[in-house]
Amino acid sequence: MIPRHRLDILSFANKFNQKNGYLMPSSNTAAMEFLLTRRSRPAKTLTLPVPDRTSLMPILTAAARTPDHGKLEPWRFLVLEDEALNRLAELARTRAKETGMDAELVEKTSLQFADSHLAVAVIAAPVESEKVPEIEQILSAGAVCLALLNAALASGWGANWLTGPMAMDRTFLDAGLGLGLNEFVAGFIHIGTEKMAPPERPRPDLATKVQWINK
Ligand SMILES: Cc1cc2nc3c(=O)[nH]c(=O)nc-3n(C[C@H](O)[C@H](O)[C@H](O)COP(=O)(O)O)c2cc1C
Repeated sequence: MIPRHRLDILSFANKFNQKNGYLMPSSNTAAMEFLLTRRSRPAKTLTLPVPDRTSLMPILTAAARTPDHGKLEPWRFLVLEDEALNRLAELARTRAKETGMDAELVEKTSLQFADSHLAVAVIAAPVESEKVPEIEQILSAGAVCLALLNAALASGWGANWLTGPMAMDRTFLDAGLGLGLNEFVAGFIHIGTEKMAPPERPRPDLATKVQWINK
């Protein structure tokens, strides 16, 4: 159910464009409805089934269709399936202990992989460029994460963008995922079937976030 005020925003935008005779591309009301109501599903609540490889391809294709200054494609995907997730859960447990985490955090760090049935690791892989600063390449990798999350949600799956301590652990990235030294995890996007939709969470107050500058 779309909240009343969001429908009002859509209806206002359509009327405004019509009244002012703007030559706008036809509005995509369904896409706006999705963006105004989208919500992650907590990874620990996701269960089977998960998308098979054929169903995942359009989701990855949508994610790869992301703004990328200089067409450097400074990111790639690792699709983590069951056995790999079990292996990573064990490695995460070992690394969490080795780095001195308390028992609760060791468990949580390992369960991120043990409880998951499918996760896509979005790997930021910045390249040397005279034109495009590294920060822009990393921003593009972040944008890929959101596009992937949204594509999975829009396809009817539950999905959640997590990092967690292992995203920063060089030994885990090297031994577990085989990343190069210039690479890191921008996000693990966990995908599955939701058991229940979570309640809405508080959203930013735009009055404190938006400043209109006209001179
Ligand atoms: C880069 C990044 C890393 C995140 N890592 C974690 C994490 O490790 N653990 C966690 O509980 N939430 C993490 N979150 C937050 C979750 O994605 C959370 O589900 C999300 O903020 C919900 O937003 P939504 O309801 O608008 O989809 C992370 C978010 C981002 C952007």
